[in-house]
Amino acid sequence: MNKPVILTGLRANNDLQLGNYLGALLPIIEMQKKYAGEYQINLFVPDLHSFTTPIDHSKLYEQSINNVRVFIAAGLDINNADTFVYRQSHVPAHSELTVILNCFTYMGELSRMTQFKEKGGGQTSVSVGLFDYPVLMAADILLYGAKYVPVGADQTQHVELARDIAIRMNNKFGDLFVLPEAEKEQIAFAHSQARLRIRDLQKPEKKMSKSDESGKGVIFLTDAPEVAAKKIMSATTDSFEKISYDTENQPGITNLIDILAALTGKDATEVAQEYEGQTQYGPLKTATAEAVSTFLTDFQERLSAVDDAAVMAKLEAGEKAMNVTANNTLAGVQKAVGLRN
Ligand code: TYM
Repeated sequence: MNKPVILTGLRANNDLQLGNYLGALLPIIEMQKKYAGEYQINLFVPDLHSFTTPIDHSKLYEQSINNVRVFIAAGLDINNADTFVYRQSHVPAHSELTVILNCFTYMGELSRMTQFKEKGGGQTSVSVGLFDYPVLMAADILLYGAKYVPVGADQTQHVELARDIAIRMNNKFGDLFVLPEAEKEQIAFAHSQARLRIRDLQKPEKKMSKSDESGKGVIFLTDAPEVAAKKIMSATTDSFEKISYDTENQPGITNLIDILAALTGKDATEVAQEYEGQTQYGPLKTATAEAVSTFLTDFQERLSAVDDAAVMAKLEAGEKAMNVTANNTLAGVQKAVGLRN
């Protein structure tokens, strides 16, 4: 019997940042460890998603491969036989299923996606690729029947859309797709209280993002540990002189608590309790800066030791196997919609 699938993807549009690591990469690696043998793990590079916003195309190919190096340095066990690593564009069924799903997705739905409104807002010309991005993401998920999709808070709405499209098509054509679990189950499965949203250190009202141009509020996984520690020490906080886990009123402090908790494997509430009653922010900042710098030192050491031949071998094996699975799902959909018999 096929094993249930846990799947996620990280775009290669720039160096990955701490939010990518804590929001998606670390959770799927922890799931790989926890459920070894019970679940299939698909960790892929959505390279076609990478230029829904403008990028330097001369770097994309190498950056896609580098993402796989990052997965390994972050702790992904590539010797695990149930783990598949691949580039989206190397499995053409992703694109083909997207064309079909497009006809079962409404303009209104896509226009309501927060990320589209944020990224497309205020721009004179917005690409169709950016608008259609969630449908390609739905194809990524549905081709493999993924039940669990560990992502950061900014992607929750897209996972829910994938589920809505699957329900709609199952209602019309019978049981075509395995449904990704609903949001409540996704969170319970990850043993977390909510999807994570790491914030920009300078502007904590915004999420930390790899496309941020100044880079001052962003910790890139390539940052020198001492540079990253300085970014934490100069993070924007507030003047309340108290430490509480309060996203609304103390987003900067809450962000530091989230980062420290995730890097030390604790609950945010646990960390918040440790600092309760303190009126100075220095100790929390120092502990967070130390945790970030220790993490980056270890991570970068592992990154420099990644074996490129092993990366390419794992990618090739993953792409071969996933083409078989994806083509199989695609053939079922093509049959259902009347393209084949
Ligand atoms: P992307 O490449 O922008 O980000 C990769 C993952 O990192 C998470 N993330 C964050 N989590 C917490 N705090 C942050 N500040 C933060 N910034 C980014 C994202 O939520 C994401 O999980 N569309 C996706 C990639 C994708 C995908 C998929 C994911 C394509 N197809 C299928 C899952 C399943 C994206 O653009 O993520």
